[in-house]
Amino acid sequence: MYVETAGGVHSPAPSGTTQADCYRPLLLPTVLIGDSRLGGISSTISAYESLLLRGYSIDAVLLFHDDYYRTGQYLRPYFEARGIFLTTIPPPPPRLPDTAENLEFTQKYYDSIIGQEDINAVVERLDLCHAGRIQQLESMPRRALDTIWWPFVQHGLVRENDVTVIDSAYSDFFSVSNKSESNNPSSKKSILSPQFDGSASWWTQVLGHAHPSLTLAAARASGRYGHVMFPQAIHLPALKLAEKLIRDGPGKGWASRAFFSDNGSTGMEVALKMAIRAYSSLHGERLSKEARKELGVLGLKGSYHGDTIGAMNACEEGVYTCEWHNAKGYWLDPPTVGVSEGQVIIKLPKSLGMHTQNAVSLAWVYDVEGRLRTPLAHAYVKYFNRILPSLKGRLAALVLEPLIMGAGGMLFVDPLFQRLLVDTVRNRGSGCLTTWSGMPVIFDEVFVGLNRVGVTSSGPLLGVHPDISVYAKALTGGLVPLAVTLTSKSIFEAFLSDQKGDALLHGHSYTAHAVGCEVANEALALMEKISLCDDWVSAKASWAKLGGSESCMWSLWDPNFIMAISNLPNVEETMTLGSVLSIRVRDQTGGKAFRHCKCRCLHSLQDIHRILPKWC
Ligand SMILES: Cc1ncc(COP(=O)(O)O)c(C=O)c1O
Repeated sequence: MYVETAGGVHSPAPSGTTQADCYRPLLLPTVLIGDSRLGGISSTISAYESLLLRGYSIDAVLLFHDDYYRTGQYLRPYFEARGIFLTTIPPPPPRLPDTAENLEFTQKYYDSIIGQEDINAVVERLDLCHAGRIQQLESMPRRALDTIWWPFVQHGLVRENDVTVIDSAYSDFFSVSNKSESNNPSSKKSILSPQFDGSASWWTQVLGHAHPSLTLAAARASGRYGHVMFPQAIHLPALKLAEKLIRDGPGKGWASRAFFSDNGSTGMEVALKMAIRAYSSLHGERLSKEARKELGVLGLKGSYHGDTIGAMNACEEGVYTCEWHNAKGYWLDPPTVGVSEGQVIIKLPKSLGMHTQNAVSLAWVYDVEGRLRTPLAHAYVKYFNRILPSLKGRLAALVLEPLIMGAGGMLFVDPLFQRLLVDTVRNRGSGCLTTWSGMPVIFDEVFVGLNRVGVTSSGPLLGVHPDISVYAKALTGGLVPLAVTLTSKSIFEAFLSDQKGDALLHGHSYTAHAVGCEVANEALALMEKISLCDDWVSAKASWAKLGGSESCMWSLWDPNFIMAISNLPNVEETMTLGSVLSIRVRDQTGGKAFRHCKCRCLHSLQDIHRILPKWC
């Protein structure tokens, strides 16, 4: 495919975006036509940098020869130093007023440059770049198998053909190399094909891959700061982000401090250190040194908080834990919510001694305040009171993934259960106070936080705020790693004294990385805009109609769509909240039939597929 652009990389395309953005999804090999006139050095370099920021690879730069400004003479070493071929060609003759004469002279000009050494060199160079790119794509699986140690992968089971080679990514799609096409020279099919990023790259890409505003923010901050160390220092991106998160983000109304780290796991490690120290400071005198070291957490079965050892210790033993794992705590069986055959159900664990219950609607389930005095609420509290007293003194924090346990299998926990658990461990009626009591409460919002479930944080849905909460993944729109642990004033004060040893002596080399913070500020601003867009407003309205306008529960998927899916014969259960849609497929023949079953199920969804809304 050959696309010739005109007017410069930022001149608008018919869609209104600049040409550089418009053609980006194609990511074609690019020849940059530079400007040889006065100011041409600057405009050529600016165009080149604009293309680089968007991921284009420039295979050659061409410009007209000019003996007066000698732009080519300056730019050739500039581009050569960057491994880019540059050549100049003679300029065309001036335009003549007579059309026939103009045509004749122009044709002569073309005839004179065709076959010229410089032009041939460009063509050869483009062929070379193309062949090199294909060779690179073809060789990558083998080279990866020889050098990379992948996460979560049993290398003994992977062959070259199993390796996905990602040439680039944009919006919701990877551009992947088609192994069969690159091995078949007679094929006319593209060597690259789009592949939908079904897991949004481990739930990070809430704004889509390579969002131009985010890549620009990253460049802006790296140009201004690079990386700067953080203790007792401040830069604007980190300060703005902390203020935003605390005053007008998930920390609004309860948080007073933001502690930055690198990813969800480290954010959780920080949260655990904060909570356990705060608990020890308050109750430590009653505990021996050994007992303090053994303090654990209260959590839910199926929870996940990351793969670093401390984060793993806050979860039960499982296939992903390791020899050093030392599960410290107690994990309760959670009741879950789902829609099956058009009926909203609350599945109760055996330990509660009750059967599955039908609920009026999803809006009713998430009206936690309205359910506080129901028989189920009494049963939950009775269950807590049966288990928790025997654990007293051994547990130092309640750690929850509020609303949804993602990695544990997209389990939508009954919000009433989590709300009452928080109230019980705090041993006080309302969760709105900012001084922690009983045990500090940690909300791991790495998955659910920042609009994934339709609200910035789960506090308003549960009707209770945490003492500590953690955000990562969506925080930077998935562009760069960054995590933040928010805390209340009373947790912060547990570390406050005139002794250095009492401080939170924890940090990472890249704590509060300026690039991450700047990208996060941009991502939050974009998310805010999306949350006001027509798609979101109308989706909220369609759920409000069902549940009364008081409900904060809503989904980007239409309520009728959810009911329709839940009635499909091969769907066991479905559930939705915000942007999350979970479909549990019925598999009556054991694991082997799962793939077949999944295909059939998805096939039957084809008719209603078109009503799936876009997030952004
Ligand atoms: C709830 C939750 N907490 C923590 C983590 C760990 O985050 P990371 O992979 O960024 O370390 C994850 C990752 O999926 C998660 O879902």
